[in-house]
Amino acid sequence: MSQRANIPSLHGRRILLGVTGGIAAYKAADLTRRLIEAGADVQVVMTDSALHFVGAPTFQALSGKPVRSSLWDAAAEAAMGHIELARWPDLILIAPATANFIAKLVHGAADDLLSTLCLATDKPIAVAPAMNRLMWANAATQANVATLSSRGIQVLGPGAGFQACGEVGEGRMREPLDIRANVADLLSSGPLKGLHAVVTAGPTREPLDPVRFLSNRSSGKQGYAVAEALRDQGARVTLISGPTNLATPTGVSRIDIESAADMLQAALAASADAQIFVAAAAVADYRAAAVAEQKIKKNDAELSLALSRTDDVLATVRRTYQDLFVVGFAAETEKLEEHARGKLQRKGLDMIAANWVGGGRAFDAEDNSLHVYWNGGGQELPQASKAQVARDLVKLIAQQRSVKK
Ligand code: CTP
Repeated sequence: MSQRANIPSLHGRRILLGVTGGIAAYKAADLTRRLIEAGADVQVVMTDSALHFVGAPTFQALSGKPVRSSLWDAAAEAAMGHIELARWPDLILIAPATANFIAKLVHGAADDLLSTLCLATDKPIAVAPAMNRLMWANAATQANVATLSSRGIQVLGPGAGFQACGEVGEGRMREPLDIRANVADLLSSGPLKGLHAVVTAGPTREPLDPVRFLSNRSSGKQGYAVAEALRDQGARVTLISGPTNLATPTGVSRIDIESAADMLQAALAASADAQIFVAAAAVADYRAAAVAEQKIKKNDAELSLALSRTDDVLATVRRTYQDLFVVGFAAETEKLEEHARGKLQRKGLDMIAANWVGGGRAFDAEDNSLHVYWNGGGQELPQASKAQVARDLVKLIAQQRSVKK
């Protein structure tokens, strides 16, 4: 099982990154790169003390924009005045935020560019504190942080561990990748904001011997499209995928598996804190009763393979997590509604999306149509691109989930 790096989508989001004067300023350089990598537009603003730790050219090179640091820079003010700059971002992120800067925020000080911007903005502000453990534990800092939280300022961290000063404790700046994930959560919007959705997709491979396996023609396209549509509605998405040729959708966390047993294990683990589960994978119903240790040799006689049933991932997840909103897929060649509704009942699902298969339909096609059923209702999603069908399906999931609650 392998997990790919999760790059959340911050495409087109404007982040004003405030860097204040602590040794963790060097980590802000990596954070800048990580935000840019996720598609964000980053404007760095440094305090004078931060400039003692890391030079402005580093941030300029990483962000592709001149760094702002002074209220009195006539050329920069002429290009974009500080009030305009305060209006520009979707989020002001202060990382690292020193104890001193946090104290200044509490008091509404405006004695440098960054504090002035924080006072002159109506955009959300998040701070990632970084300081020595005793400075963090100090009652003054704790009271200040509580005040910021009560004003709706997000406090990200700090983490615990080794500190640059040689001590061990709480006060380290949270790691750049974690801060980026927090930022993505803060900036996400849509009806599924704050929810975790798990999607299975693609085929599974059931090994017969070291070189052979049983599998099927699923391309994974529909499942990947559902993962993207869930992400676009604000959900945090984990995609558990069998082998496919598809790129991981931006902002989606992908876990690669091969067999049905691996998929079940990954699905149970990922669903523990999830609210939505969509089983779009074409899971093999049978596996070899015993996997041959050596390559199976041919001879002139007929070969019979003993097969055992695999576990049903969807039904097991349903039984394990009663509060999940669980959506299954059904592929039918006849009696579509009858068979699909049968599966809805048997597996205890909240919704089932059925499609006709055979004759080149659905598998590996670019288009699809779905018949979606739930207890007491149903809707047909007409032939369209798999992306469009996925968006329509996710809309139904959001609707039915709110009806169920
Ligand atoms: N599924 C699963 N684990 C399995 C088999 C199926 O999670 N071992 C899920 C699929 O991802 C899909 C649904 O169950 O969401 C399909 O149900 P299934 O009963 O396998 O229906 P069909 O694939 O349509 O096959 P059949 O007609 O043989 O029942």
